[in-house]
Amino acid sequence: MRRALASAPGKVILFGEHFVVKGSRSLAVSISLRVRTIVEESGGKISFISPLAGVESWIDPATLKYGDQRLAPLARLLEYLRDVLGYRIEAHRVRVESSLPVGAGLGSSASLAASYALAYTAFQGSPLSREELLKASFEAEKVAHGNPSGVDNTIAVYGGGLVYRRGEGFKRVNIRLPPGYKLLVLDTGIPRNTRSVVEHVLNVAGMTWEAAEHVYKAADKIVDLALQALEEGNALLLGTLMNLNHGLLNAVGASSMELERVVFTLRRSGAVGAKLTGAGWGGSVIALVGEELVDRVRENLSSLVKSIHDVDIGVEGARLEE
Ligand code: MEV
Repeated sequence: MRRALASAPGKVILFGEHFVVKGSRSLAVSISLRVRTIVEESGGKISFISPLAGVESWIDPATLKYGDQRLAPLARLLEYLRDVLGYRIEAHRVRVESSLPVGAGLGSSASLAASYALAYTAFQGSPLSREELLKASFEAEKVAHGNPSGVDNTIAVYGGGLVYRRGEGFKRVNIRLPPGYKLLVLDTGIPRNTRSVVEHVLNVAGMTWEAAEHVYKAADKIVDLALQALEEGNALLLGTLMNLNHGLLNAVGASSMELERVVFTLRRSGAVGAKLTGAGWGGSVIALVGEELVDRVRENLSSLVKSIHDVDIGVEGARLEE
Protein backbone atom coordinates (compact mmCIF):
# COMPACT_ATOMS: atom_id res chain seq x y z
CA MET A 1 0.00 0.00 0.00
CA ARG A 2 1.30 3.50 -0.85
CA ARG A 3 1.85 5.50 2.34
CA ALA A 4 3.84 8.49 3.61
CA LEU A 5 4.45 9.83 7.11
CA ALA A 6 5.70 13.32 7.97
CA SER A 7 6.03 15.26 11.20
CA ALA A 8 6.48 18.91 12.21
CA PRO A 9 7.21 20.56 15.58
CA GLY A 10 5.14 22.97 17.63
CA LYS A 11 6.52 26.26 18.94
CA VAL A 12 6.58 28.52 21.94
CA ILE A 13 6.99 32.28 21.90
CA LEU A 14 9.70 32.85 24.49
CA PHE A 15 9.44 36.66 24.39
CA GLY A 16 7.43 39.41 22.73
CA GLU A 17 3.93 38.10 21.90
CA HIS A 18 1.38 40.90 21.46
CA PHE A 19 4.11 43.57 21.40
CA VAL A 20 5.10 42.09 18.03
CA VAL A 21 1.73 43.17 16.62
CA LYS A 22 2.79 46.82 16.89
CA GLY A 23 6.37 46.55 15.71
CA SER A 24 8.40 45.18 18.65
CA ARG A 25 10.38 41.99 18.12
CA SER A 26 9.47 38.50 19.29
CA LEU A 27 11.61 35.42 19.88
CA ALA A 28 10.11 32.00 19.14
CA VAL A 29 11.51 28.49 19.12
CA SER A 30 10.46 24.98 18.05
CA ILE A 31 9.69 22.42 20.77
CA SER A 32 10.02 18.65 20.87
CA LEU A 33 6.25 18.04 20.74
CA ARG A 34 5.33 17.09 17.18
CA VAL A 35 2.33 16.52 14.96
CA ARG A 36 2.71 13.30 12.89
CA THR A 37 0.54 12.94 9.83
CA ILE A 38 0.11 9.66 7.97
CA VAL A 39 -1.29 9.62 4.43
CA GLU A 40 -2.41 6.26 2.99
CA GLU A 41 -4.06 4.99 -0.14
CA SER A 42 -7.85 4.59 0.02
CA GLY A 43 -10.88 4.87 -2.25
CA GLY A 44 -13.78 7.36 -2.25
CA LYS A 45 -13.16 10.60 -0.38
CA ILE A 46 -10.26 12.03 1.56
CA SER A 47 -11.03 10.70 5.04
CA PHE A 48 -9.51 12.55 7.95
CA ILE A 49 -9.13 11.44 11.55
CA SER A 50 -7.44 13.30 14.40
CA PRO A 51 -8.26 11.65 17.75
CA LEU A 52 -6.63 14.38 19.87
CA ALA A 53 -8.53 17.21 18.13
CA GLY A 54 -11.70 15.08 18.09
CA VAL A 55 -12.12 15.48 14.33
CA GLU A 56 -13.34 12.65 12.10
CA SER A 57 -14.55 13.92 8.75
CA TRP A 58 -13.86 14.14 4.98
CA ILE A 59 -12.85 16.35 2.08
CA ASP A 60 -14.15 15.68 -1.45
CA PRO A 61 -11.07 15.33 -3.71
CA ALA A 62 -12.91 16.70 -6.77
CA THR A 63 -14.65 19.76 -5.28
CA LEU A 64 -12.56 20.20 -2.09
CA LYS A 65 -15.81 20.65 -0.13
CA TYR A 66 -15.47 19.40 3.45
CA GLY A 67 -17.65 17.89 6.15
CA ASP A 68 -16.24 19.81 9.13
CA GLN A 69 -15.34 23.51 9.28
CA ARG A 70 -12.10 22.61 11.06
CA LEU A 71 -10.88 21.06 7.78
CA ALA A 72 -11.17 24.39 5.89
CA PRO A 73 -7.43 25.20 6.25
CA LEU A 74 -6.47 21.78 4.85
CA ALA A 75 -8.92 22.09 1.96
CA ARG A 76 -7.27 25.43 1.12
CA LEU A 77 -3.88 23.71 1.32
CA LEU A 78 -4.98 21.05 -1.19
CA GLU A 79 -6.38 23.77 -3.46
CA TYR A 80 -2.99 25.51 -3.38
CA LEU A 81 -1.16 22.25 -4.12
CA ARG A 82 -3.49 21.62 -7.07
CA ASP A 83 -3.86 25.12 -8.56
CA VAL A 84 -0.46 26.65 -7.88
CA LEU A 85 1.92 23.69 -7.71
CA GLY A 86 0.13 21.31 -10.11
CA TYR A 87 -0.42 18.30 -7.82
CA ARG A 88 -3.19 15.82 -8.57
CA ILE A 89 -5.65 15.54 -5.66
CA GLU A 90 -6.78 11.94 -5.19
CA ALA A 91 -8.69 10.05 -2.50
CA HIS A 92 -6.61 9.04 0.52
CA ARG A 93 -6.80 8.44 4.26
CA VAL A 94 -5.24 10.94 6.71
CA ARG A 95 -4.50 10.04 10.31
CA VAL A 96 -3.02 12.60 12.70
CA GLU A 97 -1.10 11.51 15.80
CA SER A 98 0.00 14.42 17.94
CA SER A 99 2.04 14.80 21.09
CA LEU A 100 1.40 18.56 20.75
CA PRO A 101 -1.70 19.83 22.61
CA VAL A 102 -4.28 21.28 20.22
CA GLY A 103 -5.53 24.87 20.60
CA ALA A 104 -3.07 25.63 23.38
CA GLY A 105 -1.10 28.43 21.71
CA LEU A 106 1.65 26.03 20.63
CA GLY A 107 1.20 26.24 16.87
CA SER A 108 -0.65 22.96 16.28
CA SER A 109 -2.54 24.22 13.20
CA ALA A 110 0.71 25.21 11.45
CA SER A 111 2.39 21.92 12.38
CA LEU A 112 -0.57 20.00 11.03
CA ALA A 113 -0.55 21.97 7.78
CA ALA A 114 3.21 21.53 7.28
CA SER A 115 3.24 17.81 8.12
CA TYR A 116 0.17 17.10 5.97
CA ALA A 117 1.52 19.04 2.96
CA LEU A 118 4.83 17.18 3.20
CA ALA A 119 3.19 13.76 3.69
CA TYR A 120 0.70 14.23 0.85
CA THR A 121 3.28 15.47 -1.66
CA ALA A 122 5.63 12.60 -0.69
CA PHE A 123 2.68 10.21 -1.14
CA GLN A 124 2.39 11.70 -4.64
CA GLY A 125 6.08 10.90 -5.24
CA SER A 126 7.33 14.51 -5.18
CA PRO A 127 7.80 15.97 -1.66
CA LEU A 128 7.77 19.77 -1.38
CA SER A 129 10.98 21.72 -0.79
CA ARG A 130 11.13 23.76 2.43
CA GLU A 131 10.50 27.00 0.53
CA GLU A 132 7.36 25.54 -1.07
CA LEU A 133 6.26 24.02 2.23
CA LEU A 134 6.53 27.43 3.88
CA LYS A 135 4.23 29.03 1.28
CA ALA A 136 1.74 26.14 1.26
CA SER A 137 1.45 26.02 5.07
CA PHE A 138 1.00 29.80 5.20
CA GLU A 139 -2.05 29.46 2.91
CA ALA A 140 -3.61 27.09 5.47
CA GLU A 141 -2.67 29.43 8.34
CA LYS A 142 -4.42 32.35 6.65
CA VAL A 143 -7.66 30.36 6.71
CA ALA A 144 -7.09 29.19 10.30
CA HIS A 145 -6.14 32.59 11.80
CA GLY A 146 -7.13 35.42 9.48
CA ASN A 147 -4.01 37.57 9.70
CA PRO A 148 -1.16 35.36 10.94
CA SER A 149 2.29 36.82 11.49
CA GLY A 150 3.89 33.72 9.93
CA VAL A 151 5.89 32.75 13.03
CA ASP A 152 4.13 29.43 13.56
CA ASN A 153 4.48 27.96 10.09
CA THR A 154 8.08 29.19 9.71
CA ILE A 155 9.03 27.33 12.89
CA ALA A 156 6.98 24.27 11.85
CA VAL A 157 8.83 24.10 8.52
CA TYR A 158 12.39 25.14 9.48
CA GLY A 159 12.51 24.31 13.21
CA GLY A 160 15.14 26.08 15.34
CA GLY A 161 14.58 29.58 16.68
CA LEU A 162 13.81 32.92 15.15
CA VAL A 163 13.58 36.60 15.92
CA TYR A 164 10.74 38.30 14.11
CA ARG A 165 9.82 41.92 13.53
CA ARG A 166 6.73 42.77 11.53
CA GLY A 167 7.66 44.26 8.17
CA GLU A 168 11.26 43.06 8.45
CA GLY A 169 10.70 39.32 8.55
CA PHE A 170 12.70 36.60 10.31
CA LYS A 171 16.23 36.16 11.48
CA ARG A 172 17.11 32.59 12.36
CA VAL A 173 18.91 32.17 15.68
CA ASN A 174 20.51 29.26 17.50
CA ILE A 175 18.98 28.87 20.93
CA ARG A 176 20.09 26.54 23.69
CA LEU A 177 18.83 26.46 27.28
CA PRO A 178 21.27 27.27 30.08
CA PRO A 179 22.99 24.06 31.29
CA GLY A 180 21.10 22.36 34.13
CA TYR A 181 17.75 24.00 33.27
CA LYS A 182 14.57 22.70 31.66
CA LEU A 183 11.79 24.46 29.83
CA LEU A 184 8.37 23.27 30.98
CA VAL A 185 5.25 23.91 28.91
CA LEU A 186 2.01 23.83 30.92
CA ASP A 187 -1.26 23.64 29.02
CA THR A 188 -3.97 25.23 31.19
CA GLY A 189 -6.68 23.54 29.11
CA ILE A 190 -8.51 26.89 29.02
CA PRO A 191 -9.55 27.64 25.44
CA ARG A 192 -8.64 31.08 24.18
CA ASN A 193 -9.63 33.21 21.23
CA THR A 194 -6.46 34.80 19.89
CA ARG A 195 -8.36 37.40 17.93
CA SER A 196 -10.31 38.74 20.97
CA VAL A 197 -7.19 38.99 23.16
CA VAL A 198 -5.25 40.76 20.40
CA GLU A 199 -8.12 43.25 19.97
CA HIS A 200 -8.33 43.89 23.72
CA VAL A 201 -4.58 44.48 24.03
CA LEU A 202 -4.63 46.83 21.03
CA ASN A 203 -7.44 48.80 22.69
CA VAL A 204 -5.52 49.10 25.95
CA ALA A 205 -2.41 50.20 24.04
CA GLY A 206 -4.39 52.64 21.90
CA MET A 207 -6.08 54.31 24.88
CA THR A 208 -2.84 54.73 26.79
CA TRP A 209 -0.32 55.00 23.98
CA GLU A 210 1.81 57.81 25.40
CA ALA A 211 2.52 55.52 28.35
CA ALA A 212 2.10 52.13 26.65
CA GLU A 213 4.67 53.03 24.01
CA HIS A 214 7.32 52.64 26.70
CA VAL A 215 6.00 49.19 27.58
CA TYR A 216 6.35 48.15 23.92
CA LYS A 217 9.87 49.57 23.80
CA ALA A 218 10.74 47.67 26.99
CA ALA A 219 9.42 44.44 25.45
CA ASP A 220 11.60 44.99 22.40
CA LYS A 221 14.66 45.58 24.58
CA ILE A 222 13.91 42.38 26.50
CA VAL A 223 14.54 40.41 23.29
CA ASP A 224 18.11 41.81 23.06
CA LEU A 225 18.80 40.99 26.70
CA ALA A 226 17.26 37.52 26.32
CA LEU A 227 19.49 36.72 23.34
CA GLN A 228 22.45 37.80 25.45
CA ALA A 229 21.30 35.69 28.42
CA LEU A 230 20.84 32.67 26.14
CA GLU A 231 24.27 33.20 24.58
CA GLU A 232 25.87 33.37 28.05
CA GLY A 233 23.79 30.51 29.49
CA ASN A 234 22.66 32.93 32.22
CA ALA A 235 19.56 31.22 33.69
CA LEU A 236 18.89 33.85 36.35
CA LEU A 237 18.85 36.68 33.82
CA LEU A 238 16.79 34.65 31.34
CA GLY A 239 14.20 33.72 33.98
CA THR A 240 14.03 37.28 35.31
CA LEU A 241 13.41 38.53 31.76
CA MET A 242 10.58 35.99 31.41
CA ASN A 243 9.03 37.37 34.60
CA LEU A 244 9.47 40.93 33.35
CA ASN A 245 7.90 40.05 30.00
CA HIS A 246 4.96 38.39 31.74
CA GLY A 247 4.45 41.50 33.88
CA LEU A 248 4.28 43.63 30.72
CA LEU A 249 1.78 41.21 29.16
CA ASN A 250 -0.32 41.45 32.31
CA ALA A 251 -0.06 45.26 32.15
CA VAL A 252 -1.60 45.36 28.67
CA GLY A 253 -4.39 42.92 29.56
CA ALA A 254 -3.30 39.53 28.19
CA SER A 255 -3.24 37.63 31.50
CA SER A 256 -6.06 36.24 33.66
CA MET A 257 -6.70 35.03 37.23
CA GLU A 258 -6.05 31.45 36.16
CA LEU A 259 -2.81 32.28 34.36
CA GLU A 260 -1.57 34.36 37.29
CA ARG A 261 -2.23 31.46 39.66
CA VAL A 262 -0.20 29.11 37.44
CA VAL A 263 2.63 31.64 36.98
CA PHE A 264 2.92 32.44 40.69
CA THR A 265 2.67 28.81 41.77
CA LEU A 266 5.51 28.06 39.37
CA ARG A 267 7.66 30.82 40.84
CA ARG A 268 6.87 29.71 44.40
CA SER A 269 7.83 26.18 43.42
CA GLY A 270 11.28 27.39 42.37
CA ALA A 271 10.98 28.32 38.67
CA VAL A 272 13.49 31.09 37.89
CA GLY A 273 11.08 32.42 35.28
CA ALA A 274 7.45 31.86 34.27
CA LYS A 275 5.25 33.60 31.72
CA LEU A 276 2.22 33.07 29.55
CA THR A 277 3.08 32.14 25.96
CA GLY A 278 1.00 32.99 22.89
CA ALA A 279 -2.12 35.09 23.15
CA GLY A 280 -3.04 34.62 26.84
CA TRP A 281 -6.41 34.52 28.71
CA GLY A 282 -5.78 30.74 28.66
CA GLY A 283 -3.61 28.48 26.50
CA SER A 284 -0.13 27.74 27.81
CA VAL A 285 2.45 28.95 30.31
CA ILE A 286 6.21 28.33 30.04
CA ALA A 287 8.66 28.05 32.91
CA LEU A 288 12.42 27.84 33.27
CA VAL A 289 13.15 25.34 36.02
CA GLY A 290 16.36 23.88 37.47
CA GLU A 291 16.54 20.14 36.69
CA GLU A 292 16.47 19.20 40.39
CA LEU A 293 13.16 21.04 40.89
CA VAL A 294 11.20 19.58 37.96
CA ASP A 295 9.53 16.85 40.03
CA ARG A 296 8.45 19.32 42.73
CA VAL A 297 7.07 21.70 40.12
CA ARG A 298 5.13 18.89 38.47
CA GLU A 299 3.66 17.86 41.82
CA ASN A 300 2.67 21.42 42.78
CA LEU A 301 1.14 22.26 39.41
CA SER A 302 -0.56 19.03 38.39
CA SER A 303 -3.94 19.97 39.85
CA LEU A 304 -3.87 23.48 38.28
CA VAL A 305 -3.24 22.55 34.64
CA LYS A 306 -4.29 19.98 32.07
CA SER A 307 -0.79 18.80 31.10
CA ILE A 308 2.89 19.51 31.79
CA HIS A 309 5.58 18.87 29.16
CA ASP A 310 9.33 18.89 29.67
CA VAL A 311 10.49 19.95 26.17
CA ASP A 312 13.69 20.27 24.17
CA ILE A 313 13.92 23.45 22.13
CA GLY A 314 15.31 24.33 18.71
CA VAL A 315 14.44 20.91 17.29
CA GLU A 316 14.35 20.01 13.60
CA GLY A 317 11.54 21.33 11.39
CA ALA A 318 9.15 19.36 9.17
CA ARG A 319 10.58 16.02 8.03
CA LEU A 320 9.58 12.80 6.36
CA GLU A 321 9.51 9.88 8.76
CA GLU A 322 8.83 7.15 6.20
C1 MEV B 1 -0.26 34.61 19.29
O1 MEV B 1 0.33 33.31 19.32
C2 MEV B 1 0.81 35.67 19.21
C3 MEV B 1 0.28 37.09 19.17
O2 MEV B 1 1.43 37.93 19.25
C4 MEV B 1 -0.50 37.40 17.91
C5 MEV B 1 0.35 37.46 16.64
O3 MEV B 1 1.59 37.61 16.69
O4 MEV B 1 -0.25 37.37 15.52
C6 MEV B 1 -0.59 37.38 20.37
